[in-house]
Amino acid sequence: MRLSGKTALVTGAARGIGLEFARAYIAEGAQVALADINAEAVASAAAALGPQAIAVQMDVTRQDSIDAGFDRAVAEMGQLDILVNNAALFSAAPIAEITRADYDKLFAVNVAGTLFCLQAAARHMIPRGEGTVINMASQAGRRGEGLVAVYCATKAAVISLTQSAGLNLIRHGINVNAIAPGVVDGEHWDGVDAFFAKYEGKAPGQKKREVGAAVPFGRMGTAADLTGMAIFLATPEAKYIVAQCFGVDGGNWMA
Ligand SMILES: NC(=O)c1ccc[n+]([C@@H]2O[C@H](COP(=O)([O-])OP(=O)(O)OC[C@H]3O[C@@H](n4cnc5c(N)ncnc54)[C@H](O)[C@@H]3O)[C@@H](O)[C@H]2O)c1
Repeated sequence: MRLSGKTALVTGAARGIGLEFARAYIAEGAQVALADINAEAVASAAAALGPQAIAVQMDVTRQDSIDAGFDRAVAEMGQLDILVNNAALFSAAPIAEITRADYDKLFAVNVAGTLFCLQAAARHMIPRGEGTVINMASQAGRRGEGLVAVYCATKAAVISLTQSAGLNLIRHGINVNAIAPGVVDGEHWDGVDAFFAKYEGKAPGQKKREVGAAVPFGRMGTAADLTGMAIFLATPEAKYIVAQCFGVDGGNWMA
C-alpha cells in the first residue's frame, strides 16, 4: 500500500496503459480519477475498478474540459497528489502524405494536452507544496522513424516539456518526470500494426511479431510491465528525481 491516502488523475485511462496504471495505483491504496474523452468506456472502466475509482469525461484538447475535469476530481477526492499525462494519439504516414489536419490533431492531444493538464495539476499542487507528475513519453521521442514523423515529434516535445516543467516546478515540491515505453501490446499497437500493414505491405499482425522478436527481453511489453516505475515515481523515495525520462522497454531503445 505504497500510495495509501494518495489521489491521482490519469488521462486516457479508459483502456491500455492508463487503465492499468489506475488499477495499479488503486491496488497500492490510492483513489484514482480516470479521465478520458470516451465517456462510456471510462465510466465502465471506473465502475469495474470499484469505489476507489471515479470516471471523469475529459477532452485534453479543450481548456474548459480540462478545467472542469480537474475541478471535479479535486472536489470528489479532496486533493490531487499525482497526475499521469497518458492520453495520446498515434498516426503514421510518409512525409509526402502527412496532412496538416493530422499534425494539428496529434499535437493538440499529445503536446498541448500534456502541457495544459500539467498546468491544471500544478495550479492545484503549488499551494500544497507537493505533487507528482508523470508524462508518458516514448522511445519514439528519442529518435526519428521514417513513417512516424509527427508522433515522434510529439513525444520529443513531451520529453522537452518534462525537462522544463521539472525544473520550474521542483521549487514547489512538484516532481515532473517521464516514462518512455518501447512497444507495448494492446489496442494501441493493433492500430500501429494496421498502419504498417498499409505502408510496408505487411500482413496483419506481422509488424507486431517482428517488433516483439526484436526486443532484447524477447517480447513486446505489457501495460503491467510499466506499473512498477509509475508507482515508484509517485512515492517519497523518488523525491530527488527531477526532469528525467526513464526507458521501460525490455532494452529496446538501447538496442
Ligand atoms: N502502446 C505502446 O506501445 C506505447 C509505446 C510508447 C508510448 N506509449 C504511450 O503510452 C500512452 C498510453 O498508450 P496506450 O497504448 O495505452 O494508448 P491507447 O490508444 O490504448 O489509449 C489512449 C487513451 O487516450 C484516450 N484519448 C485520446 N484522445 C483523448 C483526448 N483528446 N482526451 C482524453 N483522452 C483521450 C483514448 O480514448 C484512449 O483511451 C500514450 O501516451 C502513448 O503514446 C505507448
